[in-house]
Amino acid sequence: MSSNTVFSTQAANTALLGELRVPGDKSMSHRAVMFSSLANGVSHISGLLEGEDVLATLAAFQAMGVVVDGPKDGKLTVHGVGMHGLSAPESDLDMGNSGTAMRLMSGILAAQKFSSKLVGDQSLSGRPMRRVTVPLSAMGARCATDDDGCPPIHIRSVERLEPIDYKLPMASAQIKSAVLLAGLYADGKTSVTEPAPTRDHTERMLRAFGYPCTTERVDDSVSVISVEGGGELSAANIDIPSDISSAAFFLVAASIVPGSDITLRHVGVNPTRTGVIDVLREMGASIEFVNAHDIGGEPVADIRIQYVGLKGIDIAPKYVPLAIDEFPVLCIAAACAEGITTVSGAEELRHKESDRISAMVAGLRALGVELVEHKDGVVITGGALTGGSVDSFHDHRIAMAFSVAGAVASEPVVIDKCENVATSFPDFVEAAGRIGLRVDV
Ligand code: S3P
Repeated sequence: MSSNTVFSTQAANTALLGELRVPGDKSMSHRAVMFSSLANGVSHISGLLEGEDVLATLAAFQAMGVVVDGPKDGKLTVHGVGMHGLSAPESDLDMGNSGTAMRLMSGILAAQKFSSKLVGDQSLSGRPMRRVTVPLSAMGARCATDDDGCPPIHIRSVERLEPIDYKLPMASAQIKSAVLLAGLYADGKTSVTEPAPTRDHTERMLRAFGYPCTTERVDDSVSVISVEGGGELSAANIDIPSDISSAAFFLVAASIVPGSDITLRHVGVNPTRTGVIDVLREMGASIEFVNAHDIGGEPVADIRIQYVGLKGIDIAPKYVPLAIDEFPVLCIAAACAEGITTVSGAEELRHKESDRISAMVAGLRALGVELVEHKDGVVITGGALTGGSVDSFHDHRIAMAFSVAGAVASEPVVIDKCENVATSFPDFVEAAGRIGLRVDV
């Protein structure tokens, strides 16, 4: 996509109908590339998301000597080099727009016997990275951000890392994963205590690659996840399901366009990711899992969504980490619901690819929605949406969320700076069109 892609949407005059398979899960795709690169032997991945974020991770491993065949049609063969087989990259490693790539790579690179530098695009260069360099430094890593706590991350070679018992300051799967990945190289047991459940793909996929990783539940919210350093990863065949975060746009679209009935195939429904479904169901949505089964340690299902009018609710803060990437489109659901919806405890949304609270507030205001912004959330009064011009702030999920709003707005919605949709959902416009949601580029 060019660097100033504009989406223009039209109200769907008819119901959204049909079925779709949205692209592979982004979180799992990053991890599959990382773990297969570090494994002994040849891994086969299918369902890989060929979006820019994952391609950045893949390019980084290729720059460190990993040989791959593909990706093509979601299939990638990776010739793993083993835990200690990476070689020093000749230039900076560019993580593009991806916070996940930068934070998880920090954990791996902090343990290497060579130096490296992680850089990113303008959005990533403004995101907080001390949340990973602080615990990694406590393990003996020699890594530093710029003075403002943002990228680049400079990492210097180390001979060994110390294990750590780390209490996460916030519920973040990226920080948890960075520490655990460094822990794979530490002399002893590294444990991470999470204050609330966050996506557990790192833990599940480590096990799928034959690396023991334990999770001990302390109570309903707190868990301790541990790995023992010094082990090996064994090559694996990984089938990545569709990304529930990409499916979420259509879950909401079908829930707000009258008469809709769509089915989304082969979606990952790991309970640490299904907060969006729980929230939409509380709002009254009709969402059904069909053909639920497990693939490679991850739950998968087809999801059928039928239109029923939504009602406003107070979204409990426990859903924040479980639906962290779905709040932009949940705000669209709220704007179309009857009554008031409250989002709170969600300050982390301000540190994503954009400040997602202020981006959604500005965009929804431009569409005539009544709302009140808070530091940690927003209160949205549902009602009819007008058309208008919206800035997506180069944030893929803001761009796609407002494309969904366009399906019910009274006039066209024009969304600026949509090029980063390619980071997570390269064929979003075509996929939307297949179920009758028209987006023009
Ligand atoms: C991700 C974790 C989440 C999420 C991001 C992907 C991951 O970030 O927002 O898009 O793959 O681990 P945090 O863990 O920082 O909340």
